Amino acid sequence: MGLTIIVGTQWGDEAKGKITDLLAQEVDVAARYNGGDNAGHTISHQGCTFKLHLVPSGILHPRCRLCIGNGVVVNPQLLLEEMAELTRAGIDVSPQRLKLSDRAHLIMPYHQALDGAAERARGDSRIGTTQRGIGPVYADKAARSGLRAGDMLEPDFAPRVREAVAAQNKVLEKVYGQSPLSPEEIAAQYAAYAERLRPRIADTSLLIHQALEAGQEVLAEGAQGTLLDLDQGTYPYVTSSSSIAGGAFTGLGIGPGYPTQVVGVAKAYTTRVGAGPFPTELTGPLGDQIRGTGDQPWDEYGTTTGRPRRCGWLDLVILRYAARINGLTELAMTKLDVLSSFHRIPICVAYELDRHRLEEFPSRTTDLARCRPIYEELEGWERDIRAVGTWEDLPLEARAYVEFIEERVGVPVALISVGPEREQTIRRQ
Ligand code: GDP
Ligand code: IMO
Ligand code: MG
Repeated sequence: MGLTIIVGTQWGDEAKGKITDLLAQEVDVAARYNGGDNAGHTISHQGCTFKLHLVPSGILHPRCRLCIGNGVVVNPQLLLEEMAELTRAGIDVSPQRLKLSDRAHLIMPYHQALDGAAERARGDSRIGTTQRGIGPVYADKAARSGLRAGDMLEPDFAPRVREAVAAQNKVLEKVYGQSPLSPEEIAAQYAAYAERLRPRIADTSLLIHQALEAGQEVLAEGAQGTLLDLDQGTYPYVTSSSSIAGGAFTGLGIGPGYPTQVVGVAKAYTTRVGAGPFPTELTGPLGDQIRGTGDQPWDEYGTTTGRPRRCGWLDLVILRYAARINGLTELAMTKLDVLSSFHRIPICVAYELDRHRLEEFPSRTTDLARCRPIYEELEGWERDIRAVGTWEDLPLEARAYVEFIEERVGVPVALISVGPEREQTIRRQ
């Protein structure tokens, strides 16, 4: 298979990082196609854990080359810090191996300031953003006023940064009553980042195209998830990029003609960080039971912000929607082990809206907010499954849970994850 797209099927944090790391063992190029350091992708191998925000999760496999695609927005300071951390861990992030698209937009300090100011101004209707400047940088991209990685190669980069800061200071001061940022300081800072990033800035679209033409395997790693997609998600409670599978084509600059598989990563339950409707949310002790105590690395607290994640039962209306929007060819079901302590496990199979049964995910977020879940209940397995390595060794009830999902969603579950480590994965034929 030429191209494999890894996409979140829910509201992010489905363990895309773990699944990308697992599948990257067999690929030549791994590329991130959307989002920025709002993403936090965790990979755990042999007791070492890395929380990646920008570097693709194929990084642990020495033969895998890495691209940060044009659809990604990059805070250069954080990228340099992440690379330094990986270097300290003995991992090769040399310019030959890790490339940054010349078309990727740069997150500037004013984007972060504007993100925070806009959230405060929204008051009770705030989105709950990660405050990494994501909305404002994509707004600049759409307004055609952004700075891109390729601009760092130009002699007029520093003056352009100065001008951009001066222009955005007007918005910060006049609209939000904030103190201005220093154009001189930021221009100097960004000129220094440019020097360090220069050797890895490249036409990554061409590189990926050449790899695919040569019959190599390419993995496209999405950030966030289907319901956080700017167009297809629960607008306005979404992120500002295309996090669905289609985003891989625009975010990497490749056409849809290559043999492609689309792996939808789905947690065995549902979580969400930030605001917005969530039909199966559990706000009481059951939600706390799923979230865990916060003592374990896999407990449901944000990888980027540390915020507790809102938790609830699995929602098959969402998974069917994700299958449709992304053209999923298979599912990777993660964190099945987290459900081991439940005696019975409800699964949402449809919604009730205005006393009607709804099978399809509603297009309007205001309707979703009024939907009530309709559940069917399955038996729990009440046994630790973290050491189970084969389908046959999974308890019958756990297999029934997976088969129920597969049948109701209409997509095969090819991978089942029962713990954060790469080896804690069951592959099905
Ligand atoms: P991503 O953003 O989709 O890559 O997901 P995150 O890394 O933000 O969150 C997933 C969390 O679950 C991380 O802490 C992983 O180490 C952990 N994890 C991944 N797979 C499993 C699993 O099967 N079981 C458990 N218990 N934890 C897992
Ligand atoms: P990964 O890739 C979960 C959420 C934020 C907020 C909304 C908008 O790790 O799955 P933004 O900062 O993007 O403007 O915030 O999107 N969000 C995520 N939630 N996982 C993520 O990434 C997320 N990235 C953004 O919490 O609700
Ligand atoms: Mg995450």
